[in-house]
Amino acid sequence: MSMPSIPQPTFYIFKCEQASPPGMPKPSCVNENTRDLFNHTTQSLMQKGLMGPVQVVRTSCLGRCQMGPVMLVEPGHHMYCQLSKEKIDRIVEEHIIGGSPVEEYLIPQQYWGKPVNLGS
Ligand code: FES
Repeated sequence: MSMPSIPQPTFYIFKCEQASPPGMPKPSCVNENTRDLFNHTTQSLMQKGLMGPVQVVRTSCLGRCQMGPVMLVEPGHHMYCQLSKEKIDRIVEEHIIGGSPVEEYLIPQQYWGKPVNLGS
C-alpha cells in the first residue's frame, strides 16, 4: 500500500494537564485558574495555521509541580514554567514561529538539570 509522505512536526508541545484532587497539599498544573491554558494554546496555534507542524499533547505530571503550570517544548527539552495565557502567546510568537526560546520563562536551572545518562 502506498501512502503519501507526511512531513514530521517541527515542534511537540507537552502540556501538563494534571489536576490534584481537592485537599491535596501538593500543587498541580491544572486548577480553576489555569484549566483553559491547554485550549488557549491550541486555539492560538490554530489561528496561526500551525496545527500539524506543531503537535500539542496533553500529559500527566511532568515532575515539576512546584513550578506549574508547565509545558515542555521539543526538540530542545525547553521546559516553560508558571505559565499564563500571555506567556503562551509570547512563546508561540518567539519560540515556535521565531525559533528563539523565551529564556525568561524557562524553568530555573536548579530545577531542570541535565538529562540522566542511562548508558553508563
Ligand atoms: S502536576 Fe504538572 S508537573 Fe506535576
